[in-house]
Amino acid sequence: MIRLNEHYAKLKASYLFADIARRVTAYTQARPDRPVIRLGIGDVTEPLPPACIAALHAATDEMASRATFRGYGPEQGYAFLREAIAQHDFQARGAKIDPDEIFVSDGAKCDVGNIQEIFAPDLRIAIPDPVYPVYIDTNVMAGRTGPNVDGRYQGILYLDSTAANGYVPAPPAEPADLVYLCFPNNPTGAVATHAQLAAWVDYARRHSALLLFDAAYESFIRDPQIPHSIYEIDGARDVAIEFRSYSKVAGFTGLRCAYTVIPKTLTARDAAGAAQSVHALWNRRHSTKFNGVAYPVQRAAAAVYTAEGRQQTRALADFYLGNARLIREAMGRLGLKCVGGDNAPYIWVNTGRDSWEFFDLLLNKAQVVCTPGAGFGRCGEGHVRISAFNSRENVVAALARIAAAVK
Ligand code: MLT
Repeated sequence: MIRLNEHYAKLKASYLFADIARRVTAYTQARPDRPVIRLGIGDVTEPLPPACIAALHAATDEMASRATFRGYGPEQGYAFLREAIAQHDFQARGAKIDPDEIFVSDGAKCDVGNIQEIFAPDLRIAIPDPVYPVYIDTNVMAGRTGPNVDGRYQGILYLDSTAANGYVPAPPAEPADLVYLCFPNNPTGAVATHAQLAAWVDYARRHSALLLFDAAYESFIRDPQIPHSIYEIDGARDVAIEFRSYSKVAGFTGLRCAYTVIPKTLTARDAAGAAQSVHALWNRRHSTKFNGVAYPVQRAAAAVYTAEGRQQTRALADFYLGNARLIREAMGRLGLKCVGGDNAPYIWVNTGRDSWEFFDLLLNKAQVVCTPGAGFGRCGEGHVRISAFNSRENVVAALARIAAAVK
C-alpha cells in the first residue's frame, strides 16, 4: 500500500500565491471586460538589463559551436560567477566570504525550502510572523510541527513582527535551533540595523542556533547604515547561512538564478555530539540532487557585476523604489498607515479591516490585486502587502482605482 507523507495534510489546501492566482483567474474569467492590475506576487515586469541580455546572447552562441560548447557544469556553479559574487557582494562590504563557500542554484525559494532537510527532524524552529510562507510550509512538510491550531502550527516559536517592535523581532528569551530571518523583509519591507542583526548573531552563538538569513531583497537597500549581508556582522560566519537571488536585483524571475552561502566555519552536531561541516553536508545534497544552473544563465548573472550591469541593476531597483514611493504617498492620502517601500519593494498597509475582505474589495471594485496580510501569518491580519513591481503606468492607474474604491 502506498502511504502519503501525512504531514502534508496539516498544510492549508494551497500555497498562498496559488490561492490568490486562483481567485484572480476566477474574477478575470467572470469579468473579462475589466482587466486587473497585479500588485500581488512580487514578480518583476521590466526587461532584463542590457548587460545580462548581451551575456546571454554571447553564451548562447558559445553553445552553438563544438569548440566552445559546454555540457554539465560544476553543480556548485562556475568559478567565474562564484568569484564575482564573493568579490562584489561580500568582500567589497568587508564580509569575508570565499568563492567556494557559494552554491549557485536556480532559486532562493528552492534553497530556502530545501535547506531544512539536512537538519534533524526534531529541531525547534523560530519563524517571524508575518512571514514568507515557504519557511513554514517546508518545515510542516518535514514533520517539524504539530497541527495548525487557530492559524498557528504547534511547536513553532513564532516571532511577532508588529508596529510595536518596528517589524523587527528581537531574539526571544527561549532557545531555538533554526531561526529564519528575512531583511529587507518580505512582506513588511522592514530593514534591520547592524545592532539588531548583531543581537541575533549573539543569540545564535549563545544557544548554538543557526540563522537562515534571506537577503533576496538586498539590492533595494538605500540607507547606507543598513547591512546588506549577515556576514557584515562579526561572528556571523559561524552561525549563519545566507540566501540571495537574481530575481529582484536583475529581473531573473523567469530566467532563474540564485545562490546560497554556507561558510566553511559553520558546524552542526551529529548524533554523537561531534561538530560536522554544514558546508560539506549541503555540498553532498546539492551535488546529488542538482545539476547546476544553465551556463548562459550563469553568464547573464555574472554580467550583473560588470560596470554596466551594476549601473543598470541599480537603475532597475531605483525604478521600482520610485513606484514604491508613489504607493506610500497614495496610501497616506487615503489615511492608511503603511511601512516599507523605502529600502524594499513592498509596502505593508494597515487597512484596519479583515485582510481578505480588503483584498476582495480591491479586486472587485478596483481590479487591483494585492496580497492579504493574513496569508503571511496571524500578525498580518488587518494588513495587505502592495508590491511595487509593475510598470509606472500600471502603478499610477492602480493607485487612482484604489483611491476611487476606498474613499
Ligand atoms: C513574493 O511575492 O513574496 C515573492 O515574489 C514570492 C517568491 O519570491 O517566491
